[in-house]
Amino acid sequence: MKSFVKYGIALGLMASATGIAYAQMKPEAAIRARQSIMRVMSLNFGPVAGMAQGKIAFNKDVFATNALRLESVWAMNVAAFFPAGSDKPVAGSKIAEFTRAKPEIWSQPDKFKQAQDTMTEAVGKLAAAVKSGDEGAMKAAAGGVGKACKGCHDDFQAKP
Ligand code: HEC
Repeated sequence: MKSFVKYGIALGLMASATGIAYAQMKPEAAIRARQSIMRVMSLNFGPVAGMAQGKIAFNKDVFATNALRLESVWAMNVAAFFPAGSDKPVAGSKIAEFTRAKPEIWSQPDKFKQAQDTMTEAVGKLAAAVKSGDEGAMKAAAGGVGKACKGCHDDFQAKP
């Protein structure tokens, strides 16, 4: 019992330490983190989208592996890596010398949150479809995820 309590306290400390760590993250570190997460999402979603669109042959195992990895990567809460002040990298940073984050991320936080929620829902539906094993449902759910990516990018990612 005692060790459970200790464990709980340790987890609580860890969670708040993580929150503080993100808030204090330098802009270029936050930018690098979110762009990395986005890239890994894209790496996993690419084959899933390709299969859903019939551009590559459907392979249930590959689809499932990638879709469930996408769920894990999304669970990293990419939104935590958009701290105030990370709308542009600081001068002289060697990495992540650009960001395509639009100012609306900070000026319309409710709308940005809504775009995250849409994605969370779409990812949940994709995971459920994978568990059902139904090919049609899997492809349809992948379409929903694609729309959620595009919806957020249309509003919050500047065109290159
Ligand atoms: C809630 C909003 C949101 C959702 C949902 C979202 N993105 Fe993004 N994405 C962004 C923003 C904002 C950026 C720009 C980040 C930056 O440059 O600092 C971005 C950047 C990217 C990039 C460029 C990364 C780089 O190296 O600069 C890729 C690739 C990407 N997203 C893929 C995806 C894919 C694939 C999905 C869906 C599976 C997705 N995104 C869902 C907001 C979102």
